[in-house]
Amino acid sequence: MNLANQPRVRLSSWPTPLEECPRLSAALGGPHIWVKRDDLTDLGLGGNKVRKLEYLLGAALKEGADTVVTTGGLQSNHARLTAAACRRLGLGVVLVLAGVPGRPAALTGNLLLDYLYGAEVVFTSENSDEAVAKTMADVATGLRDRGRRPYVVPLGGSSAVGTLGYVSAALEVAAQAAEEGVAFDDVFVTTGSGGTHAGLLVGLARFMPGARLHGITVSREPSVAAARVEAIAAETAGLLGLDPGGLPRAVVHGGYVGQGYAIPTRAGWEAIVLAARTESLVLDPVYTGKALSGLIGLIRQGRLSPASNVLFVHTGGWPGLMAEAAALEDHLGREEGSAIP
Ligand SMILES: Cc1ncc(COP(=O)(O)O)c(C=O)c1O
Repeated sequence: MNLANQPRVRLSSWPTPLEECPRLSAALGGPHIWVKRDDLTDLGLGGNKVRKLEYLLGAALKEGADTVVTTGGLQSNHARLTAAACRRLGLGVVLVLAGVPGRPAALTGNLLLDYLYGAEVVFTSENSDEAVAKTMADVATGLRDRGRRPYVVPLGGSSAVGTLGYVSAALEVAAQAAEEGVAFDDVFVTTGSGGTHAGLLVGLARFMPGARLHGITVSREPSVAAARVEAIAAETAGLLGLDPGGLPRAVVHGGYVGQGYAIPTRAGWEAIVLAARTESLVLDPVYTGKALSGLIGLIRQGRLSPASNVLFVHTGGWPGLMAEAAALEDHLGREEGSAIP
């Protein structure tokens, strides 16, 4: 595997912590839950996209790009982290925020940070992958016409190049697990645009083959998400000179999306409150809260042995929680002043 030969820029210090979660495990009646703290990557308030951006922007710089164009939803962590990374590297950045008819009145969470980082923001009411890809291509053409050299990063940074970041994360987890003397039976991750899941699929198959990898979809139907993950994984394996035919199938669990992508669920809020009150972990309502609600759901269905070792990959996203503060209030169970005599 030729991972070390791929262009890469350093955007964070590694490894991120691997931590045991005894209070969360006890609250759920087992299994032994650990968390990989990819929310603590140290660029732009952290998150999984930093790993992808190390490879994507490594490729962009190698091509001589001076401006990066990418896309996401209104509260995209990927867009925020792309803006942060570009600032760190002295690159221009244009964010195409999809499914948004115009600039919203309130600047909160990730959108506020996009502007703070000085990104050029383009809103489009279009939402389909094709329409958004076309808008990004048009933006890139406009930039070229003005003498700039754009590099287009697809939705979520989930190209084969971006996915290398999570192949390398699997290597990191395997080394940490060996150091801690823990053998993970199951690994849980959020499945969004699919690159994080796909990178772990390629990397864990090679470096931690005993672990079963589970994705919890936060947007697409499970079968569609799994096919997407497998396609990205095959392309990534090809880039690394590995045989894509040898990859395991992608396992994606459904039932935790609720009414749709980025619409919070009751189970997600419960997971967010539980993680905060047992382990001081801050999850978000769009990705990691729903992913943990999936892990909790499978535990409650008795599908994980109480004796097993489970790794939850925390992929970040807390600025998205700040954008939903009003909705979170309903789930805090506050009793003002009840402890004061
Ligand atoms: C916080 C967070 N977790 C998980 C994901 C999902 O990662 P992927 O798009 O690689 O599936 C994202 C994607 O934007 C994210 O922002």
